[in-house]
Amino acid sequence: MKNSSPQDWPEPIVRVQSLSERCIDSIPERYIKPLSDRPSSALDDDANIPVIDLAGLYGDPDARASTLRQISEACNEWGFFQIVNHGVSPHLMDMARETWRQFFHMPLEVKQQYANSPKTYEGYGSRLGIEKGAILDWSDYYYLHYLPLSLKDCNKWPTHPPSCREVCDEYGRELVKLCGRLMKVLSINLGLEEEVLERAFGGEDIGACMRVNFYPKCPRPELTLGLSSHSDPGGMTLLLSDDQVPGLQVRKGDNWITVKPLPHAFIVNIGDQIQILSNANYKSVEHRVVVNSNKERVSLAFFYNPKSNIPIEPVTELVKPDKPALYTAMTFDEYRLFIRLRGPCGKSHVESLKSPR
Ligand code: OGA
Ligand code: NI
Repeated sequence: MKNSSPQDWPEPIVRVQSLSERCIDSIPERYIKPLSDRPSSALDDDANIPVIDLAGLYGDPDARASTLRQISEACNEWGFFQIVNHGVSPHLMDMARETWRQFFHMPLEVKQQYANSPKTYEGYGSRLGIEKGAILDWSDYYYLHYLPLSLKDCNKWPTHPPSCREVCDEYGRELVKLCGRLMKVLSINLGLEEEVLERAFGGEDIGACMRVNFYPKCPRPELTLGLSSHSDPGGMTLLLSDDQVPGLQVRKGDNWITVKPLPHAFIVNIGDQIQILSNANYKSVEHRVVVNSNKERVSLAFFYNPKSNIPIEPVTELVKPDKPALYTAMTFDEYRLFIRLRGPCGKSHVESLKSPR
């Protein structure tokens, strides 16, 4: 793809948080989704994604084997699972979320200093995608880079609340470690040597970034979405949800399952790049976010990604005579640009990479 990054938003940016403070009983038309995309369709409220205790990974061989198996089943059946006993301090998790909640409650002028552009998306934003006239999602966000170090720029991180930079730094460090551990597990479960996936990601030069999502209260939650249906473009995502307020829904067949977040759990999901590397043995799964009328919601989505300028294609061990490579190679930089132009769009991005066979 030869397009360079778009320089600016196609329309003036409106902060959803300020709309939320102004709107009493209606929402602007730009946030009203077509009927088929609205939240009420096909809900299954009893189901939940699997919950997996990672302590088993470090227990006796039987416990380890059983934990590997649970993760394998969760990847095959759901592409989504919650993990507990993952080694990240509960205190750090609470600090990270609450620090960001405080950021979003700072005066608008303060936040505007960090306003982002579609060129890098870093900073304070209110839309994904740059299609003029697009129907928008009911959320604001803050996007920042951890890795590679050449992209990490703490000056683009908020100075307020004062703890923000330090907390973010530590949170990033811990989550990179946890992702490294999970990558080994996925590699083993795919029948590969434990280092294979990480190596295919570019070894030392992998990427990691975070989007903090802020979903303000919405007077007409049945008409809109906090985040439209999408699969995550990167490798793997660790989501820290607001444990007081559900909102994330995962597609299971024709149904949407509302995730019931456990306190201090991370929600793990497979992204498009692992779908490609695994030759679709693992699939990224569509998900979306619903909002509600009486509670705001804060979530931290941590994205673990391949090095951005190397070709990503199915690993050779998973390409077999009866299972040829399903995808043509593309760098993550190219892939991301493709998504930035169009915004969240179900699984259409990864589907369009299918080899023409
Ligand atoms: C995301 C995402 C879910 C949530 O940021 O990609 O899917 O619950 N977030 O905020
Ligand atoms: Ni997502």
